[in-house]
Amino acid sequence: MLRIKSGPIGVFDSGYGGLTILNEIRKVLPEYDYIYLGDNARTPYGPRSFEVVYRFTKQAVFRLFEEGCQLVILACNTASAKALRTIQQQDLVAWDGDRRVLGVIRPTVEVLDKLSTTKHVGILGTAGTISSCSYELEIAKMFPHITVSGEACPMWVPLVENNEFHSPGADYFVRKNLDELFLKDGQIDTIVLGCTHYPLLIQKIRQYLPDGVTLFSQGERVAESLKDYLFRHPEMRNRLTKGQNSRFLTTESAEKFSETASIFLSEDISVEQISID
Ligand code: DGL
Repeated sequence: MLRIKSGPIGVFDSGYGGLTILNEIRKVLPEYDYIYLGDNARTPYGPRSFEVVYRFTKQAVFRLFEEGCQLVILACNTASAKALRTIQQQDLVAWDGDRRVLGVIRPTVEVLDKLSTTKHVGILGTAGTISSCSYELEIAKMFPHITVSGEACPMWVPLVENNEFHSPGADYFVRKNLDELFLKDGQIDTIVLGCTHYPLLIQKIRQYLPDGVTLFSQGERVAESLKDYLFRHPEMRNRLTKGQNSRFLTTESAEKFSETASIFLSEDISVEQISID
């Protein structure tokens, strides 16, 4: 069905947040070509059901495959939590068993045991990521001795998307959600920013964090994990084109994407509007 046997790395997110992951990946693996796809017309995914997030994510991944991508990173935690497994186990085989889709949750979880001394970890994410318990399940498999508490922060994505992440409103919601997380477990010494948008709130989060708590932002880790994956999988590495080009696709207006993407990227980009449903 999908015949092209070489092409770029695809990076998918429900909106702009995945640009924080793309930035880190391009720092570590600058030689490859990339296609970023933001489903901005249907963002946010956070409050949506499993079925809907799966359907939207499947459409996006298929489109990236049609564009020639051989490997797609689901930069979005919500999509990784709700759609990755089904796509890997059901859809990939039907489309092209040689292509791959990877998420952001597993590489993040892999480093938590090293980061935490108290073995009490907090996860901040969208309502969808937290209610899926994906982090808890993955941590229980790898590090059953770690206690995990999740806190949904439904206002944080809108604050970032609306460029309000330095506003007093951001202070209010950041403090509120952190207080609620520490009420659940006062022994937490490591907090995962389990949403691609949250790194933009990092200064505010640090301001309200108790001393000695490590804040873990997953971009660098996802990039390192991808580098390691490609090192271990020459068959995939050899399918990836190396032209140092990045294309940007959005399901919303291209103009709007370029404008907001400038919060996340320090370069001028050209953007194409596409439809994936
Ligand atoms: N990018 C998504 C994530 O990492 C959050 C944005 C959304 O709700 O769509 O979970």
